[in-house]
Amino acid sequence: MQKREYGFSYEVYDSADELGAEDASLLKEARLATRNAYAPYSRFRVGAMARLENGQTVRGSNQENAAFPAGLCAEGVLLATASSLYPGVPIDTLAVSYDNENGPSDRPISPCGICRQSLQEFEQRTGRPVRLILAGQTGKVFIIPKASLLLPLAFTADEMK
Ligand code: THU
Repeated sequence: MQKREYGFSYEVYDSADELGAEDASLLKEARLATRNAYAPYSRFRVGAMARLENGQTVRGSNQENAAFPAGLCAEGVLLATASSLYPGVPIDTLAVSYDNENGPSDRPISPCGICRQSLQEFEQRTGRPVRLILAGQTGKVFIIPKASLLLPLAFTADEMK
């Protein structure tokens, strides 16, 4: 028997004011993208903004449905949009923020399990890490160097070969 451990390093900033100009601008756009969310059921509006390696930017926001499982997360909408508009182009950095009509938005959220799975496969397909910037409308900012760090022991396409 052997024991293995898993961990990863990420950066924590006290506020967006500590970020470099490019990251600050991406986060600002993700915060604004929450306005495009359609979230009448959860009242939890998520916005995402990515900078691609070809210099283009792509936006996403959560889009809900009265049949709840039919709803789409902001990250999933963004990944599908990026793949549709610019197939195969890696994402350099993806910022995610939210606006919560039920409470504060003063700390980072991180992608749900399904989005982690989609992010992992996006990285695998493009061969490049997706760097994440996570923050509320205010407060601390997390920067995670590679989205798949959030999904240890992932089930991947390789398992089906
Ligand atoms: N949601 C996202 O869009 N991204 C996340 O990372 C977490 C959750 C959405 C799904 C649903 O529309 C609402 O937030 C509440 O779960």
